[in-house]
Amino acid sequence: MSLRLGDIAPDFDQDSSIGRIKFHEWLGNSWGVLFSHPADFTPVCTTELGLTAKLKDEFEKRNVKTIALSVDNAESHNEWIKDINETQAANVGFPILADGDRKVSTLYDMIHPNANETLTVRSLFVIDPNKKVRLIITYPASTGRNFDEVLRVIDSLQLTDHYQVATPGNWKQGDDVVIVPSLKDEEVIKQKFPKGYKALRPYLRMTPQPNK
Ligand code: BEZ
Repeated sequence: MSLRLGDIAPDFDQDSSIGRIKFHEWLGNSWGVLFSHPADFTPVCTTELGLTAKLKDEFEKRNVKTIALSVDNAESHNEWIKDINETQAANVGFPILADGDRKVSTLYDMIHPNANETLTVRSLFVIDPNKKVRLIITYPASTGRNFDEVLRVIDSLQLTDHYQVATPGNWKQGDDVVIVPSLKDEEVIKQKFPKGYKALRPYLRMTPQPNK
């Protein structure tokens, strides 16, 4: 059965560009982004890994570790990393899982046989420090992912874990947020949102981002 939001991200022990990785142990208390790509030495994947490397500080700021995966071997990954660094002006400092036996791809349902029988699609999982799956996205091989969007969702998850708010469509850091509909008591709302709020409808209450 495929993974769903809220499930515990399956643990595994697998080879990688930096040696064996015991996933849960490697994650420690960090958030994680686990993302697959179809194959080494392919153009879109090269740009995606370069982008991820260049966003290192942004991921670190949010306490997020990134880890890529393809079904090629570790030797190939390490050769490819040289190309990524050179062509993308990047420095890939995160591991790439070498999933030749498809152990991780199978656990995370990353191979979609009607798209490709043997290679992974572009799956991406955001995992929180409790090892729960918080975001799942799946893109086709022909479309590179938007890593700014991945960071945006992580910002939303980290914000909404701490405050009783949700983030509206196209929200970004600093924009107003919505008060969760389950919060009804006006006195409690005033106390929790001292910057005030605007009720456009009883169920649509906008408030400035509480931690800004
Ligand atoms: C790529 O990463 O460029 C790619 C990989 C597989 C199919 C198409 C494109």
